Amino acid sequence: MHDPKKELIGRKKLELDTPCLVVDLDLLDENLQKMQTRVKTAGKSLRPHAKTHKCSTLAKMQVANGAIGVCAAKISEAEALVDAGMSGVLITGPVAGREKVNRLVSLLGRAPFLMAVVDHPATIRLLQSRLAEKDRQLDVLLDIDVGQRRTGVPPAKAMDVAGSILSGSRLRLRGIQAYAGHVQHIPRYEDRKSASREALRKAAAVFRQLQSRTESCTIFSASGTGTARIDLSSAELTELQAGSYALMDAEYLAVESADGPDAADYHPALTMLTTVVSGPHGRQVTLDAGLKALYRDGGRPRVLDPRYGGLHYDWFGDEYGKLSAPNRATLLPELGMVLEMVVSHCDPTVNLFDRLHITQAGKVVDVWPIDLRGRCQ
Ligand SMILES: Cc1ncc(COP(=O)(O)O)c(C=O)c1O
Repeated sequence: MHDPKKELIGRKKLELDTPCLVVDLDLLDENLQKMQTRVKTAGKSLRPHAKTHKCSTLAKMQVANGAIGVCAAKISEAEALVDAGMSGVLITGPVAGREKVNRLVSLLGRAPFLMAVVDHPATIRLLQSRLAEKDRQLDVLLDIDVGQRRTGVPPAKAMDVAGSILSGSRLRLRGIQAYAGHVQHIPRYEDRKSASREALRKAAAVFRQLQSRTESCTIFSASGTGTARIDLSSAELTELQAGSYALMDAEYLAVESADGPDAADYHPALTMLTTVVSGPHGRQVTLDAGLKALYRDGGRPRVLDPRYGGLHYDWFGDEYGKLSAPNRATLLPELGMVLEMVVSHCDPTVNLFDRLHITQAGKVVDVWPIDLRGRCQ
């Protein structure tokens, strides 16, 4: 049988067919260890978000490095992680409606230490009754809205909703989740720091109140790549959910780190290879990576090779991108040349591909399936 992995291992990175995604294993390893060491030194735990890489092999590497489990955005991601043999999965998005609740209760039957967040009494009631029918119990975190207004209950209503969890016997309230998504990409570090502190302060007050009401409430899960270093100083926070730090992208590389405007906290371990397929057309060339290969939202993709660092990438339809030179003096890459680019936003870009080509010293050493790809239910 045709085994693409066999054919690819040993191949030089720049000889791969494009567009494709590559991950530098040494840089990935450095990113994982850096985050894990920081978290451990602060006496906290790490439950990294798998929505950013959508790859169970990488998730297992995070656990091997010390993570206590992984986060999944949706039930379908959690199902794939459990099928890959992972335990300690936390579903960080609300599981609303009968169909999803049924899926969750059935997943629970084969998923050790599965947890989910809840943020509405209607879902809580539905879960209580489905769990009672199946004679099961589920660990839950109460999702607190700390300002993004996307999911979660406002802090002022948290105790009421917690009351409906505690009124039944099928849900065990293990703590809270308080992800401040609106804060992660604030460009200036000091601004991000004060916004994150304020968000966590609100959540910490709820956490303390809940702890005084129930013994099982021991988990305070929050944070992302943009605020991880800031959030480690929160006394109440117990675990971090950062995700993008593993692979990184142009959007995160553009925000100021704790070490200054030009010092990136984590390396761009993920890159995309793309080929110049036409041109030059005046001061621009056409690339084979457009909307179907490179997600449009987020930061501006950029070429890694410093000779072409001054070129400006733009989407040029579904199949193509263009690289434009600001003036005549700027060197343009030639037809057929393969370029390595930092992607705009890692999560939705990874979701466009089937596999990650894992490289070391410029050669493919492994191929990992993006097995959570397309799992958006
Ligand atoms: C609930 C939740 N937690 C954690 C994360 C991880 O954040 P980041 O990728 O910024 O590290 C996300 C990302 O969107 C998220 O939605």
